[in-house]
Amino acid sequence: MGTEKEAVVVKGLEDVYVKESKLCLVDGEKGRLLYVGYDIRDLAERSSFEETCYLLWHFRLPGQDELETTRRGLAEERKLPKDILNLLKRLPKTTVPIDALRTAVSALAAYDPELADDSRDANLRKALRITAKVATIVAAFHRIREGKRPIPPDPDLGHAEDFLRMLSGKAPDPLDTKIMDVALILHADHSLNASTFGATVAASTLADLYSDVVAGIATLKGPLHGGANEQAVKMLLKIGSPANAEPYVEKALARGEKIPGFGHRVYKNFDPRALILRDYAKKLTQRGGDSTLLDTASAVQEVMLRNLQAKKIYPNVDFYSGVTYYLMGLPPDVFTPVFAVARVAGWAAHVMEYWQSNRIMRPLDLYVGLTDAAYVPIDRR
Ligand SMILES: CC(C)(COP(=O)(O)OP(=O)(O)OC[C@H]1O[C@@H](n2cnc3c(N)ncnc32)[C@H](O)[C@@H]1OP(=O)(O)O)[C@@H](O)C(=O)NCCC(=O)NCCS
Repeated sequence: MGTEKEAVVVKGLEDVYVKESKLCLVDGEKGRLLYVGYDIRDLAERSSFEETCYLLWHFRLPGQDELETTRRGLAEERKLPKDILNLLKRLPKTTVPIDALRTAVSALAAYDPELADDSRDANLRKALRITAKVATIVAAFHRIREGKRPIPPDPDLGHAEDFLRMLSGKAPDPLDTKIMDVALILHADHSLNASTFGATVAASTLADLYSDVVAGIATLKGPLHGGANEQAVKMLLKIGSPANAEPYVEKALARGEKIPGFGHRVYKNFDPRALILRDYAKKLTQRGGDSTLLDTASAVQEVMLRNLQAKKIYPNVDFYSGVTYYLMGLPPDVFTPVFAVARVAGWAAHVMEYWQSNRIMRPLDLYVGLTDAAYVPIDRR
């Protein structure tokens, strides 16, 4: 870069590579997504969230014993310290769920006896603990704010099933369990997206894994990233019916607004995760019998493609995860925390990978301000 005159400012770090990784390939042109070389469509159909965690943390699929150890480890670690439950109970009921999660993960650090141990083995154990507890925190806070008692984890259940059970208070039906497991797999990683980058920046200073995950959650919250699924479904509910899709979208586009759930920095084609979730949303619609939401989503997609396919704007994962979660009965403000329940696995994976050859992240900003300001004492300003 050299002198300021030669400096090039890359807004939004578009097309900038900051690390090598063996974790996740997003092929935006072809609309393909791989974790450690495995196609997301195979993983969604045949894997489990537990197996996906192992894959991301160890760069290979587990054997039977390794999978069982991971499953058991997550199950046993879902239990929360009493103080964390009390902290969640003391938050105002109006706290935004993703803020409650961020606060609780920050506090959890104080209860981890290995916080200061930065060996890979200790970090793997911390990754497991945080991933396990994030699900319980999301479920517990949702119950608490509704005036209900949090439901303790059941170590005999898989992560997706237990999460849904702790959230809703009832044993989930097998279709819901399968869909939640698939959704967790699909959201577990996505290369260096904004929140994973946020977590990696924190990690590059050698801040512990809890701090890195807190940075990830904070970055995920925004409507341009993990908050888009909630915005997308709220928009669809406002549109109300397929017939209203065209006038709504065209007016919004004419005002220069972005339609939540569309567009992506990397995908210039259909996001494969969106297509998988759309199929599950169809199954839920068949089960529930009311197709209004999905039909409205299809109508919005059609208008968007007609208007913006030339700019390579397609539905992204948030468009159909929002629809899917809503059809499963989840409240919209829990959608982003559900994203975190999955992505925490990817944050931990990237952070641990980055630590293998760490260098502190320290980009530059191009100074364009004054260089000769004369200080004037306050009484003479
Ligand atoms: C995801 C997102 C932040 C990517 O941003 P980006 O890479 O900086 O892309 P840009 O915002 O520069 O978009 C490129 C063009 O497509 C248009 N565009 C992108 N997303 C759009 C959307 N959702 N609705 C309408 N137009 C959109 C932009 O207006 C821009 O048009 P222009 O070239 O005429 O100015 C952006 O597409 C967006 O805000 N989407 C909605 C939020 C969302 O769904 N986020 C979740 C992502 S997984």
